[in-house]
Amino acid sequence: MPNHKIRLAVFCSGTGSNFKSLYKAIADRPLDAEIVLCLSNRSQCGAMEFARENGIAALHLSEKQFATYAEFVEAMLAALGRYRVEAIALAGYMRKVPQAVVSAYRDRMLNIHPALLPKFGGEGMYGIHVHTAVLAAGDTESGATVHLVSEEYDKGRIVLQERVPVLAGDTPETLAGRVLECEHRIYPAALEKLLLEIRTEKVR
Ligand code: GAR
Repeated sequence: MPNHKIRLAVFCSGTGSNFKSLYKAIADRPLDAEIVLCLSNRSQCGAMEFARENGIAALHLSEKQFATYAEFVEAMLAALGRYRVEAIALAGYMRKVPQAVVSAYRDRMLNIHPALLPKFGGEGMYGIHVHTAVLAAGDTESGATVHLVSEEYDKGRIVLQERVPVLAGDTPETLAGRVLECEHRIYPAALEKLLLEIRTEKVR
């Protein structure tokens, strides 16, 4: 059983508000983890700025930097090894995580999705597209889901889920805002559950 703070990498592509909520939860609770790496497919984004401002290694890693996909995957695995990353939280990471990384971090990688999975998940369902689809379907509720990452998009075991109502007059943006508040509540709680599982060796 690890008796040190579990070394966490956060993968982001955008604003990074979920990254910030995890960072704050780790600082406040305290959760038995430390964020040792922010990895992003974008060199400049809110998440990367926040990492740099807070002394967290900010690594820009994109397929475009490599001649082949295999080299990109190799570089990602090497970086995770270099920072001795033990668990990963995807926080608005808008790229598919390579299979080899999913395998290496099986049961140790979380994702947050802005809907009630299994509904509104899968390829193409990310960010504002999710909320547009929920409104188009006429659903009366939505929410957020934290799940383990498996080979299939948005299909791994659900760790936590919370519901929010869809209100009359909602636009994709207003619904996104309500769901995001809920994401900031459940992601730290789900991370806490995963850390406990890792510590009690329910997973590896
Ligand atoms: C969040 O709503 C997150 O659930 C979603 O992107 C947003 C990122 O916001 N992720 C996906 O759609 C992944 N399929 P953030 O950068 O402020 O955390």
